[in-house]
Amino acid sequence: MDSIVIKGNGPLKGQIPIAGAKNACLTLMPATLLSEEPLTLTNAPRLSDIKTMSALLGSLGAEVSSLQDGKVLAMSSHKLDNHVADYEIVRKMRASNLVLGPMLARLGRAVVSLPGGCAIGARPMDLHIEALEALGAEIELKEGYLHAKAPKGLKGAVHELRFASVGATENTVMAATLAKGTTVLKNAAREPEIVDLVQCLRKMGAQIEGEGTSTITIQGVDRLSGATHPVVTDRIELGSYMLAPAIAGGEVELLGGRINLLEAFCEKLDSAGINVSETENGLVVARRADLIHSVDVTTEVYPGFPTDLQAQMMALMCTADGVSVLEEKIFENRFMHAPELIRMGAQIDVQGGVATVTGVKQLKGARVMATDLRASVSLILAGLAAEGETVVSRVYHVDRGYEHVVAKFAGVGAQIERVKE
Ligand code: UD1
Repeated sequence: MDSIVIKGNGPLKGQIPIAGAKNACLTLMPATLLSEEPLTLTNAPRLSDIKTMSALLGSLGAEVSSLQDGKVLAMSSHKLDNHVADYEIVRKMRASNLVLGPMLARLGRAVVSLPGGCAIGARPMDLHIEALEALGAEIELKEGYLHAKAPKGLKGAVHELRFASVGATENTVMAATLAKGTTVLKNAAREPEIVDLVQCLRKMGAQIEGEGTSTITIQGVDRLSGATHPVVTDRIELGSYMLAPAIAGGEVELLGGRINLLEAFCEKLDSAGINVSETENGLVVARRADLIHSVDVTTEVYPGFPTDLQAQMMALMCTADGVSVLEEKIFENRFMHAPELIRMGAQIDVQGGVATVTGVKQLKGARVMATDLRASVSLILAGLAAEGETVVSRVYHVDRGYEHVVAKFAGVGAQIERVKE
């Protein structure tokens, strides 16, 4: 198993290109199941999660070709010969559940394994099920699999999500594109990845309005066509790398970054004493002074502070002047990085969903373990600011969501390498 070794060595300088969004790509890929014609995605990120989704779509009979070194995904679902999403693939990645809505809409049936327990929380599927049932699906849980059918096809309906779940919004919108009549989805999630999905579905001929707001209206059509669509910029990768010059000093330009993808996060960086400005090619980030101010953070659904940047922000707060309170409101168990940061000398007290971080003058390098995808990058960031050597193990978590992570950090002057253990 590989590890990443980081030696904190001061200010960073240079540029980091930001890839297409993992989370957008993982919902755009299953959209291929809705049409017999080809769907091509450009600006795709090169990640193991994308390979997992390719394998899942392939197991259903779709063809997925990875072109141009993985940046282009050419997909075709002209023949689907299987409607069972097997546990062996689904268990690797919760986003596998995004095949449920499209398969149900196209084939009238789908059997999808429940994703099972995930390290960051329970993450059930009840909101997906309620919304698809509102569209006329009949769904039963048998032996760990959701058996869904809509023998007479799906029918448009008015449905309000009890919580603005990203995945439930995506599954419902995809299913409703081929339903009979109009669907009005209330309390829909507003994330940029959902806007990107809707823009792609519209290119495929779907009739949808209201993306980016809490009410999305979908007028069902008989069939969807093919399309070519560029994946939106990864705002979480962007925010993660924005924290590199914030924690290590220096000045870094994030190519492709825009403030409007991360407004709540940029406001917090500003309060912490970090300058963020837009350039022609992206965003430039630098500290205003050596001192980082402590700021309080509460994770919320978009447009609030993203839960997927909480661990990385905690790394920054470990080095800030004063006490910051980080409240996690989206996932119940998302502070597993805290004990690892404590191994590096951080002072963190976790009580339920609230972490109180008292900044220290200097973090110290240590052997630490990545516990999930975003936690892994928070440990690399902490390593950039630490004295001595930090060794992050279980880096397969990083590979799920950050392409060329070592090269990107090294490209701005970080001393970082990947080693086989
Ligand atoms: C997506 C993102 C993930 C991000 C999350 C929140 C993808 C592939 N993943 O995950 O990176 O952290 O949004 O921004 O896009 N919930 C239920 N019942 C359900 C569905 C969800 O209770 O049926 C709960 C979950 O347990 C969790 C919360 O709702 O506590 C948020 O989940 P959701 O918005 O659905 O996140 P995902 O789509 O899984």
